[in-house]
Amino acid sequence: MRIIHTIRELKEVLADCRNQQKKIGLVPTMGALHAGHISLVEKSVGENEVTVVTIFVNPTQFNNLDDLEKYPRTLEEDVRLLEVNHADVVFAPSVAEMYPTPDTRSFSYPPLDEVMEGKFRPGHFNGVCQIVSKLFEAVEPDNAYFGEKDFQQLAIIRKMNRAQDYGIYIVGCPIVREADGLAMSSRNSRLSTEERKNALEISQTLFKSHTFAKEHSVKETIRFVEDSIAAAPGLELEYFSLVDGDTLQPIEAWEDATYIVGCITVFCGDVRLIDNIKYK
Ligand code: PAF
Repeated sequence: MRIIHTIRELKEVLADCRNQQKKIGLVPTMGALHAGHISLVEKSVGENEVTVVTIFVNPTQFNNLDDLEKYPRTLEEDVRLLEVNHADVVFAPSVAEMYPTPDTRSFSYPPLDEVMEGKFRPGHFNGVCQIVSKLFEAVEPDNAYFGEKDFQQLAIIRKMNRAQDYGIYIVGCPIVREADGLAMSSRNSRLSTEERKNALEISQTLFKSHTFAKEHSVKETIRFVEDSIAAAPGLELEYFSLVDGDTLQPIEAWEDATYIVGCITVFCGDVRLIDNIKYK
């Protein structure tokens, strides 16, 4: 496995692979790897001759400096995990390498980026698109792998891929959960023992709401989730939205869409956690 820090070296190595007609898979990450990331790596390794994993905590997608500073960084352990999981290339650039000058490009994909995370984290998806577009252009992968936990991010990246005509096959991979149901996230490592216990109520509420929804309206289901989180110790709901899984626009009735997803964001102490569940 090669560890590369510059775009120039990355391009040289990948040009060789491309000359040998090798298929390239890209797994973009911000590091602090867990089993969710590893599921993406495994999928890429199974579907490509070369798997490139990028590790870069992208400053332009953080709208909160404290969140950026506290984001876990575990490069040595990440590299060890990637080695045993058969990644071929780790690309771990510096901020100066990715942003030698400020990125003034603006990416806007309404209405996808106007709701949920787009509303509560202004500029977040612009930053995500800035870095993902740079990675797509540096790696030129055949396939790129993203987790469905970041449901809105995945929809926006698919849209950017089409809009920019990258021609990359975007592979969405299912959420990986801890044994008790909590969605895996690099941010989980910031939870205290008490907070970790409290956080469990997020996924439990989503699972229960799935059953509840079978006999109740959209409005009642939203209320069920809001009340459950409000009653749970140590949690503060930022939003819960039931949306059309394709357009990400809120639905009002179960008949409004054929694909419906519930997206939730909750503060557990000062750790912001997201999760989602498919209703149909
Ligand atoms: O999902 C993430 O970890 C990040 O948003 C991504 C896609 C690696 C871009 O920084």
